[in-house]
Amino acid sequence: MVGISVASRNTADTVAMMKTVTVCNTAELPPGEMRLIEAKGLKIGVFNSKGTYYAIEDRCSHDEGPLAEGEFDEQGCTVECPRHGSLFDLKTGSPKTLPAYEPSRTFPVTVEDDKVLVEVG
Ligand code: FES
Repeated sequence: MVGISVASRNTADTVAMMKTVTVCNTAELPPGEMRLIEAKGLKIGVFNSKGTYYAIEDRCSHDEGPLAEGEFDEQGCTVECPRHGSLFDLKTGSPKTLPAYEPSRTFPVTVEDDKVLVEVG
């Protein structure tokens, strides 16, 4: 096991329904990069920010913009919605700037045997 990063709003009730999805090998997602996956009917952006992985739904809480396609600031650990420019904290999913004011959904990420795994509920 290399490291663990958790960024989630899930409750104990939803953890039981989680599905573990393999994203890729760690070497395929270096710092500063993002991978878009689909799981359980959701599109999810998985980001490597300075060696820690974060996963956020590819759907902005403001107007469903394609969040994962926005500009990724690795140092600030944020992504900017390409539709209207809200900046989202990848650790929490919370917007740091308007017009979005509600968080986008995030998912726990772990690394096991050099594989990046996302828990999707
Ligand atoms: S859709 Fe993302 S800020 Fe409007």
